[in-house]
Amino acid sequence: MRRKSLSQYLTEQVRAGAATPELMQLVEQVAEACVSIGALVDKGALANMLGSARTENVQGETQKTLDVISNDLLIAATEWTGVLAALVSEEMEAPYQIPDTYPKGPYLLLFDPLDGSSNIDVNISIGTIFSVLECPKGVSKPDVAAFMQPGSKQVAAGFVVYGPSTLMVLTVGRGVVGFTLDRYPGTFVVTQEKVSIPADTSEFAINASNMRNWEAPVTRYIDECLAGKTGARGRDFNMRWVASMVADVYRTLWRGGIFMYPKDAKHKEGRLRLMYEANPMSFIVEQAGGAASDGRRRILDIQPTGLHQRVGVILGSKNEVERVSAYHSA
Ligand code: F6P
Repeated sequence: MRRKSLSQYLTEQVRAGAATPELMQLVEQVAEACVSIGALVDKGALANMLGSARTENVQGETQKTLDVISNDLLIAATEWTGVLAALVSEEMEAPYQIPDTYPKGPYLLLFDPLDGSSNIDVNISIGTIFSVLECPKGVSKPDVAAFMQPGSKQVAAGFVVYGPSTLMVLTVGRGVVGFTLDRYPGTFVVTQEKVSIPADTSEFAINASNMRNWEAPVTRYIDECLAGKTGARGRDFNMRWVASMVADVYRTLWRGGIFMYPKDAKHKEGRLRLMYEANPMSFIVEQAGGAASDGRRRILDIQPTGLHQRVGVILGSKNEVERVSAYHSA
């Protein structure tokens, strides 16, 4: 049986009016860059891809060689297309302006080129996260203000996991589709037509080393999970934590669960970035029937104030996310 390619899927979305041809081209180019990034991840030490680049990003984190190369690959694959007005990356402080040698287009692209950086050197799944917004009308040189749109305005979001298989999850606002990279010939093909998160779960993901810093509602929720059958929840819970958001969210999408990186006494604004981590993941999770909150607000409703701002993240199976949110307002 011939499987549907990413191109075919996107063409169908264009025909159905769910995507423009420009958006299709942009997503295809992001996917092309991810194929290249995946090949480098695969080669690892053989291509001198491991270790530090001896530089720091805007958040003061040491950049890995692959962080820097992935960033460059995504820019090179998209800047020439004529469909982008500007882009924002975790690895760059200010918006990247499309060089004058190329035409500009209607979209803004935001990405975390390589999520889960601490796992690069130890052969654990890592990934790329991206989000697409429309450039405000009449803006020819998009500055920070052009990007300050809530996540509900996203027109597409996706992420790629470089793991045993290279996988892509994508939404253009009409549900969530899962793709697997067919390494030869290097194309993504649809392997899950409709991703939908079970509403209930007995599995949670959180970095428990932050426990002493958690807020009371988070401690209450996790304590109840840990109490298992004999506690308030009346059933046992399992815990998983990869420490790559892409891998943790992928698992959550496929078999249900709750993923939490809440704000706490150490991470006062949260740990994860709103614009290119929390927003795209929240869009995907909601499109798959789940929920995403910072505990107090729906993440997609948050009005951003900075390109690299952080936010608390609680996402996954709807009933569990609603429970944690209810604990925050109790
Ligand atoms: O940027 C983010 C990230 O690498 C996520 O992929 C992951 O969930 C988180 O950081 C892990 O951070 P820490 O190891 O500090 O808990």
